[in-house]
Amino acid sequence: MTEVFDEWDELNADFKELETVNKTYLKHLEDLTGHQKKCQEQIKHQKYRMNIVVKKLDKIKKTKENEKELSELQNNILKRKAQINEVEQTLPKENGLYLKIILGNVNVSILNKEDKFKYKDEYEKFKLILSGICFVMAVLNYFIHFRALELSYIFLLVWYYCTLTIRESILKLNGSRIKGWWRFHHFFSTVAAGILLIWPDNSTWMAFRHQFALFNIYLSVVQFLQFRYQRGALYRLKALGERHNMDITIEGFHSWMFRGLSFLYPFLFAGYMFTLYNAYTLYLLSYYPDATWHVRVLCAMFCILFLGNTATAIGVIPSKFNEKVKLQYKIMSERLSNQLLNRDNDDQQELEKKEH
Ligand code: COA
Repeated sequence: MTEVFDEWDELNADFKELETVNKTYLKHLEDLTGHQKKCQEQIKHQKYRMNIVVKKLDKIKKTKENEKELSELQNNILKRKAQINEVEQTLPKENGLYLKIILGNVNVSILNKEDKFKYKDEYEKFKLILSGICFVMAVLNYFIHFRALELSYIFLLVWYYCTLTIRESILKLNGSRIKGWWRFHHFFSTVAAGILLIWPDNSTWMAFRHQFALFNIYLSVVQFLQFRYQRGALYRLKALGERHNMDITIEGFHSWMFRGLSFLYPFLFAGYMFTLYNAYTLYLLSYYPDATWHVRVLCAMFCILFLGNTATAIGVIPSKFNEKVKLQYKIMSERLSNQLLNRDNDDQQELEKKEH
């Protein structure tokens, strides 16, 4: 009995310690929320006043005397915008409408750079694994005509694109610069796959199914090439932001990127031509006597995908030439915040050593 009671008393003492730690933790949480609110208010203030400065700056006439000062100020404004953006990345954000509908009001902001990187990396891996599965399923469907297999493949496509829209909305909320079209493209593809799912198994589908399977086999190959490019860019950008990493420069990153894009683009454009060819085949099929509305709607959807993909992919190239300056400031402020973080960590370690 005494042994049990002694043990219980000991446990009580430990529990008191747990309570104290928990109180400190809650206090820090409260402080954290307070600091987050303060940061958000100050960001608003910075943006508001910066707008006024920019408007006033636009009204000033450029002369030889003030040219240097003006361009210096413009550069500083650009730099400040990048810095504010960096600060914003460390603060929680409210979910957009789509995420609110799907997930409710749960907080999906990722406040830590390393976790953001991991989430993006995981997203790329997810796409790679799923495109591998889709490749196998498409090959099977090309050679075997079994309706259940076909339907499960198309259902997988619906689920895959739908999941991408959710993951991409979370990425966007956490600062990804993913273009609106690519996100819309995945919403649109979800609907297209849904229509394919309910397309009746008639002569029009029989005439299209082989071409569709081939198209998907090709898409999986392109997605693998995209994965290699996107992952390479992700790791290189991370290395650029790190203080000690001198192996890679912005110039080096840009020349790698242009090499990567010039390799990838022919494959992408061949894919877009295939999309257009799908639309053309569907157009011809729409004249079949048993053609249902699915054929016409999918024909229009493939056309829209062709136009949107081509226009967006072409539009990326000029933006790559202009983004050098932005990237420079982004990397600079990233390095700066990494430096501050490391300095804080060093201070903390020194303090702990002294305490010991
Ligand atoms: N899907 C998801 N995310 C994409 C994307 C896509 N298709 N294209 C770009 N992104 C992301 C990038 O990873 C980057 O994210 P980050 O801000 O989190 O780092 C952001 O959007 C900005 O990218 P951007 O600089 O505009 O382009 P990029 O150099 O990363 O890629 C392309 C340019 C053209 C290679 C890329 O957009 C692409 O592969 N597009 C083709 C997609 C396609 O056509 N799919 C159908 C296959 S036929």
